Amino acid sequence: MTLSRRRALQLFGLGAVAAALPGCSLLEGTPQPQLLTSTAPLPKPYAVPLPVPEIAKPSRTTAGVDYYDLTPRAADVEILPGMKTRIWGYGGSFPGPTIEARAGRRTVVRLANELDVPTVMHLHGGHTPPESDGYPTDLVQPAQRRDYDFPLDQRAATLWYHDHRMDYTGPQVWRGLAGFFLVRDAEEEALPLPSGERDLPLMICDRSFSEDGQMPYPGYGDKPGALEPYMGGVLGDVILVNGAPWPELRVARARYRFRLLNASNARTYELSTGGPIVRIGSDGGLLTGPVTVRQVRLAPAERVDVVVDFAAHKVGDRVELRNLAGEGPQARVMRFVVDRDARDDSAVPAKLSTVERLDPAKATVTRDFEFSSGSMHGATGWLINGKPFDPKRMDARPKLGDTEIWRLSSDVAHPVHLHLSHFQVLSVNGERPAGPPEWKDTVELRDAQTVEIVTRFTGYKGRYVFHCHNLEHEDMAMMANFEVV
Ligand code: C2O
Ligand code: CU
Repeated sequence: MTLSRRRALQLFGLGAVAAALPGCSLLEGTPQPQLLTSTAPLPKPYAVPLPVPEIAKPSRTTAGVDYYDLTPRAADVEILPGMKTRIWGYGGSFPGPTIEARAGRRTVVRLANELDVPTVMHLHGGHTPPESDGYPTDLVQPAQRRDYDFPLDQRAATLWYHDHRMDYTGPQVWRGLAGFFLVRDAEEEALPLPSGERDLPLMICDRSFSEDGQMPYPGYGDKPGALEPYMGGVLGDVILVNGAPWPELRVARARYRFRLLNASNARTYELSTGGPIVRIGSDGGLLTGPVTVRQVRLAPAERVDVVVDFAAHKVGDRVELRNLAGEGPQARVMRFVVDRDARDDSAVPAKLSTVERLDPAKATVTRDFEFSSGSMHGATGWLINGKPFDPKRMDARPKLGDTEIWRLSSDVAHPVHLHLSHFQVLSVNGERPAGPPEWKDTVELRDAQTVEIVTRFTGYKGRYVFHCHNLEHEDMAMMANFEVV
């Protein structure tokens, strides 16, 4: 395998670290995510209103197919009050425009790359044919275009699209290349859930800002060694929601549906409003029924759809969305201000949907994948079964239509994502999760865990990837291939 220039550079000099790391179990020496400290003054929390990403309009619709134009490009936008930040965004915005699509209706995204670097787009959670899935080396070069064709033969769900360029996903998503992609369907629309302006996507991610308001990524450009301390993951110290620092949303005394997405490179959140939160959906769409919880844990790339009822509050109340997994400023996310009464016809029905339970007894094979740090090319990298990503090596060949069990294990925490196939969690450290099954596409392995998942490979033959969605781990090779045959 030839190393890309960047990977060779970023790994240069890590030999000493590697030598200090024995074996592969949970180790004190295993790199952990590191906080990148802003040199810009941190903005006051709750000083800016929550932005809602604009809804993309199809450029045309012919024969039942919706076409969208998406143009990744650089733009200068105001993130910190009074400062301009150079971002890379789809359509020049961060987050990119929200694409609203319908289950079963073909949607084609025409990507015209106006950046001066290659990019790849992946629809995260999409049940997508391989040529449109954004394989990490299917580069769209500067000034080139590519059509991504999404049949969307899948349930309603909160998906997202983001850059997936091999070795560079961390820096390119950090710069802003991410947006929502909502799939709707008739089953969900028939439910009385909050809708319209009370159905809001919330993209949560952390960033850090230099004195001049920029979002430099460590080691990007001419100082490659600067990424070394961050190989466990880059954490920002400013929490953004829909691209705004610790924003505020004025709400009515009514139910709201929030589509929570953790688009951070490496930060995991434990979200709490201090009151009940009703979980209604997961990565792969609606649950069988609502589940009332006190907090919602969200690892990178995971989504949780929730309903929060502000009728439990009085006009004038302020409700903070806090991150119980963070400290200081990183323990805050955003604030809701209840500012009016409103009529609310919405409800959360006891039955939301039907989720078929995949039967592990039908599995044709059980595969083991170990996610751990280890030595690669004489340096430290992030590996699956001891191997760094190699686009030329096939790591699993599931048969189309087959059910399989994958047993995933970790040294430190790794949010593991499978392309193509949604799955169900069978066990965590041998224990079966409580409650009915739900569809996931990303599962968090916490420190030294074994998580068994069951999935069925349907729809398309071809080559796909699975990987850790801590983007620094992903870029440092924690990725592997599977080919549906
Ligand atoms: Cu959200 Cu392969 O990624
Ligand atoms: Cu990882």
